[in-house]
Amino acid sequence: MKYGYFDDRAREYVINNPETPYPWINYLGSKNYFCLLSNTAGGYSFYKDARLLRITRYRYNNVPIDAGGKYYYIYEDGEYWSPTWAPVKAKLDYYQCQHGLGYSVITGERKNISTEILYFVPVDDNCEIHRLKIKNNGSSVRKIKLFSFVEFCLWDAYDDMTNFQRNLSTGEVEVEGSTIFHKTEYRERRNHFSFFTVNSNISGFDTDRESFIGLYNGFHEPQVVVSGRPGNSIASGWSPIGSHCLEIVLQPGEEQSYIFILGFMENNPDNKWSSCGGINKDKAYSMIRRYNSDIKVDNALQQLKSYWDDLLSGFYLESGDDRLDRMVNTWNQYQCMVTFNLARSASYFESGISRGIGFRDSNQDLLGVVHMVPERARERLIDLARTQFEDGSTYHQYQPLTKEGNNEIGSGFNDDPLWLILGTAAYIKETGDISILNEEVSFNNGKEATLFDHLLASFNHVVLNKGPHGLPLIGRADWNDCLNLNCFSTDPGESFQTTTNKDDGQAESVLIAGMFVTIGPEFVKMCRFIGKDEIADRAQSEIEDMKKAVMEHGRDKNWFLRAYDYYGNKVGSIDNNEGQIYIEPQGFCVMGGLGIESGFARKALDSVKERLDTEYGLVLLDPPYKQYYPELGEISSYPPGYKENGGIFCHANPWIMIAETVLGRGNNAFEYYKKIAPAYLEEISDIHRMEPYVYAQMIAGKDAVNHGEAKNSWLTGTAAWNYVAITHYILGIRPEYEGLKIDPCIPEEWSGFYVEKRFRGKVYKIHVNNPAKVSKGVKHIKVDGEIIEGNLIRIPLENQARENVNDNTTQHIVEVIMG
Ligand code: BGC
Ligand code: NOJ
Repeated sequence: MKYGYFDDRAREYVINNPETPYPWINYLGSKNYFCLLSNTAGGYSFYKDARLLRITRYRYNNVPIDAGGKYYYIYEDGEYWSPTWAPVKAKLDYYQCQHGLGYSVITGERKNISTEILYFVPVDDNCEIHRLKIKNNGSSVRKIKLFSFVEFCLWDAYDDMTNFQRNLSTGEVEVEGSTIFHKTEYRERRNHFSFFTVNSNISGFDTDRESFIGLYNGFHEPQVVVSGRPGNSIASGWSPIGSHCLEIVLQPGEEQSYIFILGFMENNPDNKWSSCGGINKDKAYSMIRRYNSDIKVDNALQQLKSYWDDLLSGFYLESGDDRLDRMVNTWNQYQCMVTFNLARSASYFESGISRGIGFRDSNQDLLGVVHMVPERARERLIDLARTQFEDGSTYHQYQPLTKEGNNEIGSGFNDDPLWLILGTAAYIKETGDISILNEEVSFNNGKEATLFDHLLASFNHVVLNKGPHGLPLIGRADWNDCLNLNCFSTDPGESFQTTTNKDDGQAESVLIAGMFVTIGPEFVKMCRFIGKDEIADRAQSEIEDMKKAVMEHGRDKNWFLRAYDYYGNKVGSIDNNEGQIYIEPQGFCVMGGLGIESGFARKALDSVKERLDTEYGLVLLDPPYKQYYPELGEISSYPPGYKENGGIFCHANPWIMIAETVLGRGNNAFEYYKKIAPAYLEEISDIHRMEPYVYAQMIAGKDAVNHGEAKNSWLTGTAAWNYVAITHYILGIRPEYEGLKIDPCIPEEWSGFYVEKRFRGKVYKIHVNNPAKVSKGVKHIKVDGEIIEGNLIRIPLENQARENVNDNTTQHIVEVIMG
């Protein structure tokens, strides 16, 4: 069953049934101020850091789900309803939610009163706008009361939900005209505040939650709304809220428009507000003046739309398959940006209080955005490198506000260092800016270094941390966070401990080995470009050694092994009772070119198809663990078929898609692509449950009770990797150091496709024709009418960062004949 449809022209997903199988959300905000907004107006807002500067409150794990948001109530003659359906849930005669790029519009009509609320965050401001248009579609005069509602959070979201003894006595507000200021201090010093305002006179207000809602009521029946009378309450402690009451008279056919603004303000840093002192209201009023009329709001919305149009115009596809086009042109790129902005912090599955910016996550996220925001990708690479230790190991996460490594989590994930090489390579290949390697960025201990030194340290970290089989030590875990192999007990019956001591934790990872042979050659190429041939030669010979180690010790009969555990036992082998085959090493070892000539790669990918493929995507392993194995760790703690224990972990699926393209098997690659791409799952929303416009991290596997049901939508490395798989490998439009490679690997039945790609300041209009109906192989390529040699359009690397990579004044016509 479908709950809406894609409006491709408007780049919106339009939901026409409020009771979606889960709240289907959107993200407003693209730089510092963010808001999560569901299709029935649930959600919350924060500034920069979802934990430390939470503007409005949200209760996860609530009953009913998704209670708390940016609500409006309409009251008339003792009756009331929500134009966004929730929270009142009175039946609407018409409901629609349009989730667009950085904005949402929710429309609801009841009793001939239609209300349309546009929610968005302006591109360069720290506020959100709710423009509410209300119209009388009937033939009699209507007298209505409109109540707004937001609930403020007392800033630190974790503290807010735990430290009641303090916090319930700290709330402070001030009301001036139609503006409600939320002034609660956070600890020592007031340096920020928020406000909620409307561009109209109000007939009353409320700022105290219990006065507005009533102690024993819910959001669906606030006592003020039930009675139709604002309480003019002033919160002192407890829970400050913002609610306006507007009295509106609508003639038949008349429409009125109201602009509500929820804003965040930092006081001037040099303006030291004393405790209990004033707030800088002038700053707030000047922000309000920027949006207090329809024309100003229209302009700000237009600016937002242009911002997204510009970002997304760097890659454009016409394939003849609407679902594919809308994934590639709009929704996959959009999700990549959101994921890059938010890392894994705030979604309907991430509470915003537990995670910072992940080292491996962020390096992978930037693969999906480097073509849109190269400058920000560059900045992220430098921030990440700065948290690296001199020995190449890295903090696993850093805090977005301070950019300091997170000490609670620390380091020890031995895949982390390699992702920095991959991220840097992606940046250079896209932009041509090899100068980034000379960028000075110190190690975590302050020791001066260039980015190149960091990559060398990353590479060496693998070389210097090998185990008994010459394979990389896994440390606390590799990409698969839940495979914790250095768990052991010296005395059965005793509790298990984890060791990260190098001489002690001897568990080895074939995935890291596969990453090393895939990503290592990128490092070698970079060395050659900057004349470090000696390092390149040594690195190359290390890669050869690793290849040998994998071919000797990293293989099972028909596929690549996953690991050796602490005791030296195989993981991911036919000899194991459970967890016999894992997806990750099959993807990376084949991407790294292992077993191609001997046919072992083909065997491994055939095994993936046989053992891991399902109707809804590839499961992570097979068969799942049915009992807890302390020597394997968290992975076996999940019920079979969920998460890393045999769930369809979507992040790892594109690795197999890419590996299939290495073997030239375009049919398989695209079949795997379609199985998990959300636009193809729209009709099975009842099974899948998550938004049909974004990827979810996990879909329950074949051994799970609810096979096909997804969870953890939005913030996942799945977004970036699927983008890489489809654009770079299946469509085959792939940035390389020396230029742009055209190397499609498509289903044989395709007769071709058209791509427009912005690349290093020029636009390439690429027509691919497939007259012989092959999967892979390029017969010839003409650029501006001239046949070129091979399938690489050569463009030299640059020795400096480009000022403006978006200068797309020059166009090239590229004609590609496959065969
Ligand atoms: C999850 C992983 C996640 C990790 C992060 C685990 O519980 O299963 O998917 O990466 O937590 O800390
Ligand atoms: C999600 C985490 O964010 C990511 O770092 C990890 O690689 C995967 N889960 C797999 O465990």
